[in-house]
Amino acid sequence: MEYPAPQQINQLPARGGRDIIALKSMPNKILIVDPDASTTAWLTTRLARAGYTTETVTSAAESLAAIVRAMPDVIILERDLPDQNGLALIPQMRAIIPDVGIFVLSARGGTEEILAGLSAGANDYIVKQPGADVELVTKLRNYAAQPKTKPAPAPVTTGAGKIFAFISAKGGSGTTSICINTASALAKLEPHAEIVVVDMVFPIGSIAASVGFETRETIAKMTRTEKRLIDRAVVEKYISGSKRWGFHVMIGASNPHEAASLEVSQIVPLFETLQHAYDYVFVDFGRALSRISIPIIEVADNVVIILTPDSNTVRMTRLILEYFGTLGVSSERLILLNNRTVGRVWVSKEESEKQLGLPLAATIPFEQEYFTLAMNSGVPFINKFPDLAASLMFNDVARLLKERSTR
Ligand SMILES: Nc1ncnc2c1ncn2[C@@H]1O[C@H](COP(=O)(O)OP(=O)(O)OP(=O)(O)O)[C@@H](O)[C@H]1O
Ligand SMILES: [Mg+2]
Repeated sequence: MEYPAPQQINQLPARGGRDIIALKSMPNKILIVDPDASTTAWLTTRLARAGYTTETVTSAAESLAAIVRAMPDVIILERDLPDQNGLALIPQMRAIIPDVGIFVLSARGGTEEILAGLSAGANDYIVKQPGADVELVTKLRNYAAQPKTKPAPAPVTTGAGKIFAFISAKGGSGTTSICINTASALAKLEPHAEIVVVDMVFPIGSIAASVGFETRETIAKMTRTEKRLIDRAVVEKYISGSKRWGFHVMIGASNPHEAASLEVSQIVPLFETLQHAYDYVFVDFGRALSRISIPIIEVADNVVIILTPDSNTVRMTRLILEYFGTLGVSSERLILLNNRTVGRVWVSKEESEKQLGLPLAATIPFEQEYFTLAMNSGVPFINKFPDLAASLMFNDVARLLKERSTR
């Protein structure tokens, strides 16, 4: 064999934050995104010979589903895809796996083209030309050898507090609205409980704006500046309180530049501390299934998955459920919420449940512009529109979470 084979994925323990983060140092699972059959045949053979496992998809839409399902270490991306510009896809790919290696492979080799690829966030750009295979394999080897010396965090140990992770398969499903309003409803049900809501949507989350405050003290900044143990005293410097909402807030990052400086190895210690210091830790992970979110999702007391009643979202949610199955996340810990972000319904509740194989715990009704009105005024929906049906649902979901916590 010309190049030493990377370590096989199945030689690593399959589960737990430690193992998932450790995979970063050995990019052996590669997703090829290229519509050209001769390129993919050539790449597959060449990479298999170098010891890599590959999977091929031919469009942007297929690539996102494959990323959620397969969690590749590296993506080899053609920029001319049938359904989308490949470079525009890079931020979407990174929203799913922030630290995935992305190598653009394209016949377009002008300086401007290469610069566009690199400024779009690719790790490297390789021009399709004779010798490109040797260049690619060498660059993959170099990528694997780059110092990634961040110590792998220990798995989260269980503290007294409960962690509720909120995620969705698709953006704009209402994850943030439901996370903060449910947290606020729980604060009313349990006025003495200490609740923190953590915005883990990178590069920019929307919780600070939604609850109506500004802060420069973010998790990204904390992980960069605090070299000592992330204990309660450290965490308190980066937490803000909101009387109106009844909970404390921790913000991931205030801009993409800051988000890029996030020290991933500090995330698990942060959640351990939060779990010990607070009764309830609500986390908005948005649509990111990543090496940042998965270790926390694996230990969360409940994972609330928001979906909308349209077939694409139901299909993507199913992929997430299948993926959770492989991680050993028990379906008893999952709470599926149907959110009608638009008036129309393409898939009935029964049809969604059939496709997902799990019941939908609640359906949040479509509330027209009232959601946005509440959001824009920085007031909890349950305070501003207590009589609307969505408020009743937020209270129900809060009760369900409370009930699940006392089991
Ligand atoms: N049930 C609903 N009825 C009416 N509008 C809704 C409903 N749920 C959410 N919305 C609106 O849909 C939009 C998206 O909601 P939100 O920001 O909570 O979603 P998200 O999943 O967090 O989005 P992102 O992917 O941007 O993080 C917002 O304008 C919100 O007001
Ligand atoms: Mg959001």
